[in-house]
Amino acid sequence: MLRFEYRNLLHSKDLPTAIPASKVQDFRYACMQAHEEIQADRKANVLGFYELPEYDVSPILDYISGIDPHFDTMVVLGIGGSALGNRALYSALKTERELKRRLLVYDNVDPIYLHEILSQIDLDTTLFNVITKSGTTAETMAGYMILTDILKKRHPEDYTKRIIITTDREKGFLRQVIQNEGYQSFVVPDNVGGRFSVLTDVGLLSSAFVGINIAELLRGAASMRQRCEKLDSFENPAYLNGLLHYLYMHEGKKISVMMPYSNSLYDFADWYRQLWAESLGKRHNSKGREVFVGQTPVKALGTTDQHSQVQLYTEGPNDKVFTFLGVENFKHDYVIPNLHPERGEVSYLGGKKLSELLNAEWLATEIALTKAHRPNCNIVFPAIDEFHIGEFIMMYEIQTVFTGKLLHIDPLDQPGVEAGKIATYALMGKAGYDKERAEIQEYLKAKD
Ligand code: PA5
Repeated sequence: MLRFEYRNLLHSKDLPTAIPASKVQDFRYACMQAHEEIQADRKANVLGFYELPEYDVSPILDYISGIDPHFDTMVVLGIGGSALGNRALYSALKTERELKRRLLVYDNVDPIYLHEILSQIDLDTTLFNVITKSGTTAETMAGYMILTDILKKRHPEDYTKRIIITTDREKGFLRQVIQNEGYQSFVVPDNVGGRFSVLTDVGLLSSAFVGINIAELLRGAASMRQRCEKLDSFENPAYLNGLLHYLYMHEGKKISVMMPYSNSLYDFADWYRQLWAESLGKRHNSKGREVFVGQTPVKALGTTDQHSQVQLYTEGPNDKVFTFLGVENFKHDYVIPNLHPERGEVSYLGGKKLSELLNAEWLATEIALTKAHRPNCNIVFPAIDEFHIGEFIMMYEIQTVFTGKLLHIDPLDQPGVEAGKIATYALMGKAGYDKERAEIQEYLKAKD
Protein backbone atom coordinates (compact mmCIF):
# COMPACT_ATOMS: atom_id res chain seq x y z
CA MET A 1 0.00 0.00 0.00
CA LEU A 2 1.25 3.48 -0.93
CA ARG A 3 2.10 5.41 2.25
CA PHE A 4 1.39 9.08 2.76
CA GLU A 5 3.70 10.40 5.50
CA TYR A 6 2.31 13.80 6.44
CA ARG A 7 3.96 14.40 9.83
CA ASN A 8 6.07 17.28 8.48
CA LEU A 9 3.05 19.08 7.08
CA LEU A 10 1.72 19.55 10.61
CA HIS A 11 2.80 21.67 13.54
CA SER A 12 5.37 20.06 15.85
CA LYS A 13 8.34 21.23 17.89
CA ASP A 14 10.49 20.77 14.76
CA LEU A 15 8.00 22.72 12.65
CA PRO A 16 6.58 25.43 14.91
CA THR A 17 5.25 27.45 11.96
CA ALA A 18 3.41 24.55 10.30
CA ILE A 19 -0.37 24.11 10.19
CA PRO A 20 -1.74 22.74 13.49
CA ALA A 21 -3.68 19.48 13.32
CA SER A 22 -6.61 21.30 14.92
CA LYS A 23 -6.99 23.36 11.74
CA VAL A 24 -7.72 20.17 9.82
CA GLN A 25 -10.59 19.59 12.26
CA ASP A 26 -11.74 23.21 11.84
CA PHE A 27 -12.14 22.58 8.11
CA ARG A 28 -14.35 19.54 8.62
CA TYR A 29 -17.40 21.31 7.28
CA ALA A 30 -15.62 22.65 4.17
CA CYS A 31 -14.29 19.14 3.50
CA MET A 32 -17.73 17.65 3.88
CA GLN A 33 -19.12 20.17 1.41
CA ALA A 34 -16.34 19.45 -1.09
CA HIS A 35 -16.99 15.73 -0.64
CA GLU A 36 -20.71 16.18 -1.28
CA GLU A 37 -20.01 18.22 -4.42
CA ILE A 38 -17.74 15.45 -5.66
CA GLN A 39 -20.44 12.85 -5.00
CA ALA A 40 -22.98 15.00 -6.88
CA ASP A 41 -20.57 15.35 -9.83
CA ARG A 42 -20.03 11.61 -9.85
CA LYS A 43 -23.78 11.05 -9.96
CA ALA A 44 -24.07 13.59 -12.77
CA ASN A 45 -21.39 11.58 -14.62
CA VAL A 46 -18.88 14.40 -14.99
CA LEU A 47 -16.04 12.86 -12.97
CA GLY A 48 -15.57 9.77 -15.10
CA PHE A 49 -12.03 9.10 -13.84
CA TYR A 50 -13.49 7.82 -10.55
CA GLU A 51 -15.16 4.94 -12.36
CA LEU A 52 -12.12 3.90 -14.43
CA PRO A 53 -11.14 0.94 -12.20
CA GLU A 54 -14.18 -0.77 -13.75
CA TYR A 55 -13.10 0.24 -17.27
CA ASP A 56 -13.54 -2.50 -19.85
CA VAL A 57 -10.03 -3.18 -21.11
CA SER A 58 -10.99 -6.16 -23.29
CA PRO A 59 -10.91 -4.15 -26.58
CA ILE A 60 -7.35 -3.11 -25.74
CA LEU A 61 -6.23 -6.62 -24.84
CA ASP A 62 -7.92 -8.10 -27.94
CA TYR A 63 -6.18 -5.59 -30.17
CA ILE A 64 -2.79 -6.11 -28.54
CA SER A 65 -3.01 -9.89 -28.80
CA GLY A 66 -3.70 -9.58 -32.53
CA ILE A 67 -0.75 -7.30 -33.34
CA ASP A 68 1.85 -8.74 -35.69
CA PRO A 69 4.77 -9.58 -33.34
CA HIS A 70 7.28 -7.82 -35.58
CA PHE A 71 5.96 -4.45 -34.34
CA ASP A 72 8.35 -3.60 -31.52
CA THR A 73 7.87 0.17 -31.13
CA MET A 74 4.96 2.55 -30.63
CA VAL A 75 5.17 6.29 -31.15
CA VAL A 76 2.47 8.27 -29.37
CA LEU A 77 1.57 11.58 -31.01
CA GLY A 78 -0.25 13.71 -28.48
CA ILE A 79 0.28 16.55 -26.06
CA GLY A 80 -0.61 17.43 -22.44
CA GLY A 81 -3.05 14.91 -21.04
CA SER A 82 -2.76 12.91 -24.25
CA ALA A 83 0.97 12.28 -23.73
CA LEU A 84 2.34 12.89 -20.22
CA GLY A 85 0.71 9.88 -18.57
CA ASN A 86 1.91 7.57 -21.33
CA ARG A 87 5.49 8.69 -20.88
CA ALA A 88 5.28 8.55 -17.07
CA LEU A 89 3.95 4.98 -17.04
CA TYR A 90 6.57 3.78 -19.47
CA SER A 91 9.46 5.52 -17.66
CA ALA A 92 8.32 4.14 -14.32
CA LEU A 93 7.93 0.54 -15.39
CA LYS A 94 10.24 -0.09 -18.33
CA THR A 95 13.21 -1.12 -16.21
CA GLU A 96 11.20 -2.72 -13.43
CA ARG A 97 9.46 -5.01 -15.89
CA GLU A 98 12.35 -5.25 -18.37
CA LEU A 99 9.92 -4.37 -21.14
CA LYS A 100 10.84 -5.63 -24.58
CA ARG A 101 8.77 -3.24 -26.69
CA ARG A 102 9.56 0.46 -26.84
CA LEU A 103 7.44 3.57 -26.45
CA LEU A 104 8.39 7.00 -27.74
CA VAL A 105 6.23 10.06 -27.17
CA TYR A 106 6.30 12.96 -29.61
CA ASP A 107 4.58 15.78 -27.75
CA ASN A 108 5.88 18.91 -29.41
CA VAL A 109 6.26 20.46 -32.82
CA ASP A 110 10.00 20.91 -32.60
CA PRO A 111 11.40 19.70 -35.95
CA ILE A 112 14.71 18.58 -34.44
CA TYR A 113 12.85 16.47 -31.89
CA LEU A 114 10.84 14.86 -34.70
CA HIS A 115 14.07 14.18 -36.56
CA GLU A 116 15.50 12.53 -33.45
CA ILE A 117 12.46 10.30 -33.06
CA LEU A 118 12.50 9.32 -36.73
CA SER A 119 16.17 8.48 -36.53
CA GLN A 120 15.58 6.20 -33.52
CA ILE A 121 12.84 4.06 -35.06
CA ASP A 122 12.46 1.53 -37.82
CA LEU A 123 9.40 2.63 -39.80
CA ASP A 124 8.67 -0.96 -40.75
CA THR A 125 8.26 -2.13 -37.16
CA THR A 126 6.62 0.94 -35.61
CA LEU A 127 2.98 1.66 -34.83
CA PHE A 128 1.81 5.27 -34.52
CA ASN A 129 -0.86 6.10 -31.95
CA VAL A 130 -2.42 9.54 -32.53
CA ILE A 131 -4.12 10.64 -29.32
CA THR A 132 -6.31 13.73 -29.10
CA LYS A 133 -9.57 14.07 -27.28
CA SER A 134 -10.71 17.12 -29.23
CA GLY A 135 -9.34 15.82 -32.52
CA THR A 136 -8.16 19.28 -33.50
CA THR A 137 -5.05 20.18 -31.45
CA ALA A 138 -2.61 21.83 -33.87
CA GLU A 139 0.53 20.12 -32.52
CA THR A 140 -0.93 16.63 -32.73
CA MET A 141 -2.53 17.28 -36.11
CA ALA A 142 0.79 18.48 -37.54
CA GLY A 143 2.56 15.31 -36.37
CA TYR A 144 -0.29 13.13 -37.61
CA MET A 145 -0.15 14.65 -41.10
CA ILE A 146 3.62 14.46 -41.42
CA LEU A 147 3.85 10.86 -40.21
CA THR A 148 0.84 9.63 -42.17
CA ASP A 149 2.37 11.10 -45.29
CA ILE A 150 5.70 9.38 -44.59
CA LEU A 151 3.96 6.05 -43.93
CA LYS A 152 1.76 6.33 -47.03
CA LYS A 153 4.86 6.66 -49.18
CA ARG A 154 6.72 3.86 -47.45
CA HIS A 155 3.84 1.41 -47.06
CA PRO A 156 1.16 2.41 -49.59
CA GLU A 157 -0.41 -1.05 -49.37
CA ASP A 158 -1.02 -1.19 -45.61
CA TYR A 159 -0.23 2.18 -43.98
CA THR A 160 -3.70 2.19 -42.40
CA LYS A 161 -2.69 -0.86 -40.32
CA ARG A 162 0.20 1.10 -38.83
CA ILE A 163 -1.82 4.03 -37.51
CA ILE A 164 -4.11 3.96 -34.49
CA ILE A 165 -6.28 6.91 -33.54
CA THR A 166 -7.52 7.55 -30.00
CA THR A 167 -10.15 10.30 -29.88
CA ASP A 168 -13.74 11.12 -28.91
CA ARG A 169 -16.24 8.31 -29.54
CA GLU A 170 -18.34 10.38 -31.96
CA LYS A 171 -17.21 13.97 -32.26
CA GLY A 172 -14.36 15.62 -34.09
CA PHE A 173 -12.56 15.62 -37.38
CA LEU A 174 -10.48 12.54 -36.61
CA ARG A 175 -13.57 10.38 -36.06
CA GLN A 176 -14.50 11.15 -39.68
CA VAL A 177 -10.96 10.29 -40.81
CA ILE A 178 -11.24 6.95 -38.98
CA GLN A 179 -14.48 6.21 -40.80
CA ASN A 180 -13.06 7.17 -44.19
CA GLU A 181 -9.67 5.44 -43.87
CA GLY A 182 -10.57 2.47 -41.66
CA TYR A 183 -7.90 3.10 -39.01
CA GLN A 184 -7.99 1.10 -35.81
CA SER A 185 -9.50 3.43 -33.22
CA PHE A 186 -9.82 3.80 -29.48
CA VAL A 187 -11.81 6.16 -27.31
CA VAL A 188 -11.25 9.06 -24.92
CA PRO A 189 -14.42 8.94 -22.81
CA ASP A 190 -16.52 12.08 -22.92
CA ASN A 191 -16.69 12.36 -19.13
CA VAL A 192 -12.92 12.10 -18.52
CA GLY A 193 -10.87 15.28 -19.01
CA GLY A 194 -7.54 15.10 -20.87
CA ARG A 195 -5.28 15.36 -17.81
CA PHE A 196 -7.40 12.81 -15.91
CA SER A 197 -7.39 10.30 -18.79
CA VAL A 198 -4.24 8.23 -18.22
CA LEU A 199 -6.28 5.23 -17.03
CA THR A 200 -8.42 5.19 -20.21
CA ASP A 201 -7.42 4.03 -23.70
CA VAL A 202 -5.20 7.14 -23.72
CA GLY A 203 -2.63 5.61 -21.36
CA LEU A 204 -3.66 1.98 -21.24
CA LEU A 205 -3.23 1.09 -24.92
CA SER A 206 0.43 2.13 -25.16
CA SER A 207 1.04 0.56 -21.73
CA ALA A 208 -0.47 -2.78 -22.78
CA PHE A 209 1.53 -2.64 -26.01
CA VAL A 210 4.85 -2.43 -24.16
CA GLY A 211 3.84 -5.13 -21.66
CA ILE A 212 2.63 -3.22 -18.60
CA ASN A 213 -0.03 -5.08 -16.60
CA ILE A 214 -2.97 -2.70 -17.05
CA ALA A 215 -5.34 -4.76 -14.89
CA GLU A 216 -2.95 -4.24 -11.95
CA LEU A 217 -2.87 -0.49 -12.60
CA LEU A 218 -6.65 -0.42 -12.34
CA ARG A 219 -6.60 -2.64 -9.24
CA GLY A 220 -4.26 -0.15 -7.56
CA ALA A 221 -6.53 2.73 -8.59
CA ALA A 222 -9.56 0.90 -7.16
CA SER A 223 -7.80 0.30 -3.87
CA MET A 224 -6.86 3.99 -3.52
CA ARG A 225 -10.38 5.07 -4.49
CA GLN A 226 -11.67 2.96 -1.63
CA ARG A 227 -9.25 4.60 0.82
CA CYS A 228 -10.37 8.00 -0.45
CA GLU A 229 -14.11 7.37 0.10
CA LYS A 230 -13.67 8.17 3.82
CA LEU A 231 -14.79 11.55 5.08
CA ASP A 232 -12.33 11.73 7.96
CA SER A 233 -9.39 13.58 6.36
CA PHE A 234 -6.84 11.74 8.49
CA GLU A 235 -8.08 8.48 6.97
CA ASN A 236 -8.18 9.83 3.42
CA PRO A 237 -4.76 10.63 1.90
CA ALA A 238 -6.14 12.57 -1.09
CA TYR A 239 -8.39 14.77 1.05
CA LEU A 240 -5.74 15.35 3.72
CA ASN A 241 -3.00 16.25 1.24
CA GLY A 242 -5.45 18.41 -0.75
CA LEU A 243 -6.62 20.24 2.37
CA LEU A 244 -3.09 20.83 3.67
CA HIS A 245 -1.92 22.13 0.29
CA TYR A 246 -4.99 24.38 0.17
CA LEU A 247 -4.23 25.72 3.66
CA TYR A 248 -0.57 26.29 2.77
CA MET A 249 -1.61 28.12 -0.42
CA HIS A 250 -3.53 30.52 1.80
CA GLU A 251 -0.44 30.94 3.99
CA GLY A 252 1.61 32.11 1.02
CA LYS A 253 3.13 28.80 -0.05
CA LYS A 254 2.56 29.44 -3.73
CA ILE A 255 4.87 26.69 -4.97
CA SER A 256 4.50 22.93 -4.70
CA VAL A 257 7.70 20.99 -5.34
CA MET A 258 7.46 17.32 -6.22
CA MET A 259 10.83 15.65 -5.84
CA PRO A 260 11.08 11.94 -6.59
CA TYR A 261 14.15 10.14 -5.23
CA SER A 262 13.88 7.86 -8.24
CA ASN A 263 14.63 8.52 -11.89
CA SER A 264 11.86 6.07 -12.79
CA LEU A 265 9.26 8.28 -11.10
CA TYR A 266 10.56 11.61 -12.40
CA ASP A 267 8.12 11.75 -15.31
CA PHE A 268 5.27 11.37 -12.84
CA ALA A 269 6.36 14.72 -11.40
CA ASP A 270 5.78 16.09 -14.91
CA TRP A 271 2.36 14.46 -15.06
CA TYR A 272 1.59 16.02 -11.66
CA ARG A 273 2.73 19.44 -12.89
CA GLN A 274 0.07 19.46 -15.58
CA LEU A 275 -2.65 18.06 -13.33
CA TRP A 276 -2.05 20.57 -10.52
CA ALA A 277 -1.31 23.60 -12.71
CA GLU A 278 -4.03 23.27 -15.31
CA SER A 279 -6.72 22.17 -12.86
CA LEU A 280 -6.17 24.73 -10.10
CA GLY A 281 -4.63 27.75 -11.83
CA LYS A 282 -7.80 29.77 -12.41
CA ARG A 283 -8.77 33.40 -12.81
CA HIS A 284 -12.45 33.01 -11.93
CA ASN A 285 -14.24 31.01 -9.27
CA SER A 286 -17.44 29.07 -9.94
CA LYS A 287 -19.49 32.23 -9.32
CA GLY A 288 -17.52 34.17 -11.96
CA ARG A 289 -15.62 36.31 -9.44
CA GLU A 290 -11.94 37.05 -10.17
CA VAL A 291 -9.79 35.06 -7.73
CA PHE A 292 -6.47 34.30 -9.51
CA VAL A 293 -5.78 31.11 -7.56
CA GLY A 294 -3.36 28.24 -8.04
CA GLN A 295 -0.10 26.85 -6.81
CA THR A 296 2.89 26.57 -9.12
CA PRO A 297 4.06 22.96 -9.36
CA VAL A 298 7.78 22.47 -9.72
CA LYS A 299 9.62 19.22 -10.33
CA ALA A 300 12.99 18.29 -8.93
CA LEU A 301 14.96 15.07 -8.85
CA GLY A 302 16.70 13.57 -5.84
CA THR A 303 19.63 13.37 -5.48
CA THR A 304 20.54 15.28 -8.66
CA ASP A 305 18.83 18.51 -7.63
CA GLN A 306 20.40 18.51 -4.18
CA HIS A 307 23.33 19.97 -6.09
CA SER A 308 21.16 22.49 -7.91
CA GLN A 309 17.92 23.42 -6.09
CA VAL A 310 18.16 22.42 -2.44
CA GLN A 311 20.19 25.49 -1.44
CA LEU A 312 17.23 27.62 -2.55
CA TYR A 313 14.74 25.23 -0.97
CA THR A 314 16.35 25.38 2.49
CA GLU A 315 17.49 29.00 2.64
CA GLY A 316 15.50 30.89 0.01
CA PRO A 317 11.95 32.21 0.39
CA ASN A 318 9.78 29.98 2.58
CA ASP A 319 7.05 29.85 -0.07
CA LYS A 320 7.01 26.13 -0.95
CA VAL A 321 5.46 22.84 0.12
CA PHE A 322 7.57 19.77 -0.68
CA THR A 323 6.50 16.28 -1.66
CA PHE A 324 9.15 13.58 -1.88
CA LEU A 325 8.39 10.41 -3.79
CA GLY A 326 10.51 7.59 -2.46
CA VAL A 327 10.95 3.88 -3.05
CA GLU A 328 11.62 1.20 -0.43
CA ASN A 329 12.60 -1.78 -2.56
CA PHE A 330 14.50 -1.43 -5.81
CA LYS A 331 14.37 -4.15 -8.43
CA HIS A 332 18.02 -3.59 -9.34
CA ASP A 333 20.71 -2.54 -6.91
CA TYR A 334 24.49 -2.29 -6.71
CA VAL A 335 26.92 -2.62 -3.85
CA ILE A 336 29.59 0.08 -3.79
CA PRO A 337 32.93 -1.75 -3.64
CA ASN A 338 35.43 -0.67 -1.01
CA LEU A 339 38.06 0.32 -3.57
CA HIS A 340 40.07 2.52 -1.17
CA PRO A 341 39.66 1.01 2.35
CA GLU A 342 42.51 3.11 3.70
CA ARG A 343 40.94 6.42 2.62
CA GLY A 344 38.32 7.85 4.97
CA GLU A 345 37.10 10.20 2.20
CA VAL A 346 35.35 7.29 0.44
CA SER A 347 35.72 4.14 2.56
CA TYR A 348 32.49 4.92 4.51
CA LEU A 349 30.63 4.18 1.24
CA GLY A 350 32.30 0.80 0.71
CA GLY A 351 29.98 -2.17 1.07
CA LYS A 352 26.82 -0.01 1.09
CA LYS A 353 24.10 -0.39 -1.50
CA LEU A 354 23.39 2.47 -3.92
CA SER A 355 19.73 2.38 -2.81
CA GLU A 356 20.90 2.88 0.80
CA LEU A 357 22.82 5.99 -0.23
CA LEU A 358 19.88 7.29 -2.26
CA ASN A 359 17.42 6.86 0.59
CA ALA A 360 19.85 8.26 3.15
CA GLU A 361 20.06 11.39 1.01
CA TRP A 362 16.26 11.54 0.79
CA LEU A 363 16.05 11.43 4.61
CA ALA A 364 18.89 13.96 4.89
CA THR A 365 17.01 16.42 2.63
CA GLU A 366 13.79 15.85 4.58
CA ILE A 367 15.62 16.63 7.83
CA ALA A 368 17.36 19.70 6.36
CA LEU A 369 14.05 21.12 5.11
CA THR A 370 12.30 20.36 8.38
CA LYS A 371 15.05 22.09 10.36
CA ALA A 372 14.59 25.09 8.08
CA HIS A 373 10.83 25.02 8.89
CA ARG A 374 9.81 24.05 5.34
CA PRO A 375 6.66 21.87 5.27
CA ASN A 376 7.22 18.56 3.53
CA CYS A 377 5.72 15.11 3.10
CA ASN A 378 6.58 11.70 1.67
CA ILE A 379 4.72 9.46 -0.71
CA VAL A 380 6.36 6.09 -0.16
CA PHE A 381 6.23 3.40 -2.83
CA PRO A 382 6.97 -0.01 -1.23
CA ALA A 383 8.11 -0.91 -4.78
CA ILE A 384 7.67 0.53 -8.25
CA ASP A 385 4.98 -1.63 -9.78
CA GLU A 386 1.65 -1.27 -11.51
CA PHE A 387 -0.42 -1.54 -8.33
CA HIS A 388 1.34 1.29 -6.50
CA ILE A 389 1.42 3.48 -9.60
CA GLY A 390 -2.32 2.95 -10.03
CA GLU A 391 -2.79 4.03 -6.39
CA PHE A 392 -0.65 7.12 -6.95
CA ILE A 393 -2.59 8.20 -10.06
CA MET A 394 -5.97 7.83 -8.36
CA MET A 395 -4.79 9.61 -5.21
CA TYR A 396 -3.59 12.66 -7.11
CA GLU A 397 -6.62 12.85 -9.39
CA ILE A 398 -8.96 12.80 -6.39
CA GLN A 399 -6.73 15.24 -4.48
CA THR A 400 -6.78 17.68 -7.40
CA VAL A 401 -10.55 17.70 -7.78
CA PHE A 402 -11.01 17.95 -4.01
CA THR A 403 -8.64 20.93 -3.79
CA GLY A 404 -10.50 22.55 -6.69
CA LYS A 405 -13.73 22.21 -4.73
CA LEU A 406 -12.12 23.80 -1.64
CA LEU A 407 -10.98 26.68 -3.86
CA HIS A 408 -14.50 26.95 -5.37
CA ILE A 409 -13.13 26.78 -8.91
CA ASP A 410 -13.77 24.38 -11.77
CA PRO A 411 -10.82 21.94 -11.77
CA LEU A 412 -11.96 20.38 -15.04
CA ASP A 413 -11.78 23.32 -17.45
CA GLN A 414 -8.77 25.11 -18.97
CA PRO A 415 -9.90 28.42 -20.50
CA GLY A 416 -6.33 29.76 -20.47
CA VAL A 417 -5.12 26.88 -22.65
CA GLU A 418 -8.00 27.37 -25.07
CA ALA A 419 -7.01 31.04 -25.51
CA GLY A 420 -3.54 29.94 -26.65
CA LYS A 421 -5.00 27.34 -29.02
CA ILE A 422 -7.25 29.99 -30.61
CA ALA A 423 -4.37 32.45 -31.08
CA THR A 424 -2.35 29.68 -32.78
CA TYR A 425 -5.22 28.92 -35.16
CA ALA A 426 -5.45 32.63 -36.00
CA LEU A 427 -1.70 32.95 -36.59
CA MET A 428 -1.57 29.83 -38.74
CA GLY A 429 -4.44 31.02 -40.97
CA LYS A 430 -7.26 28.70 -39.90
CA ALA A 431 -10.65 29.77 -41.31
CA GLY A 432 -13.10 31.29 -38.84
CA TYR A 433 -10.51 33.19 -36.78
CA ASP A 434 -10.48 36.52 -38.68
CA LYS A 435 -11.33 38.59 -35.60
CA GLU A 436 -8.51 37.06 -33.56
CA ARG A 437 -6.14 37.47 -36.54
CA ALA A 438 -6.97 41.19 -36.74
CA GLU A 439 -6.31 41.56 -33.00
CA ILE A 440 -2.93 39.89 -33.40
CA GLN A 441 -2.05 42.21 -36.30
CA GLU A 442 -2.82 45.17 -34.03
CA TYR A 443 -0.62 43.68 -31.30
CA LEU A 444 2.26 43.15 -33.74
CA LYS A 445 1.95 46.71 -35.08
CA ALA A 446 2.17 48.07 -31.53
CA LYS A 447 5.32 45.97 -30.94
CA ASP A 448 7.15 47.54 -33.94
O1 PA5 B 1 -6.10 18.38 -19.82
C1 PA5 B 1 -6.42 18.79 -20.91
O2 PA5 B 1 -7.61 18.78 -21.30
C2 PA5 B 1 -5.40 19.31 -21.90
O3 PA5 B 1 -4.14 19.42 -21.35
C3 PA5 B 1 -5.33 18.40 -23.10
O4 PA5 B 1 -4.95 17.11 -22.69
C4 PA5 B 1 -4.35 18.93 -24.17
O5 PA5 B 1 -4.62 20.27 -24.47
C5 PA5 B 1 -4.48 18.09 -25.44
O6 PA5 B 1 -5.80 18.12 -25.92
P1 PA5 B 1 -6.32 17.05 -26.95
O7 PA5 B 1 -6.30 15.71 -26.31
O8 PA5 B 1 -7.73 17.47 -27.25
O9 PA5 B 1 -5.45 17.10 -28.15
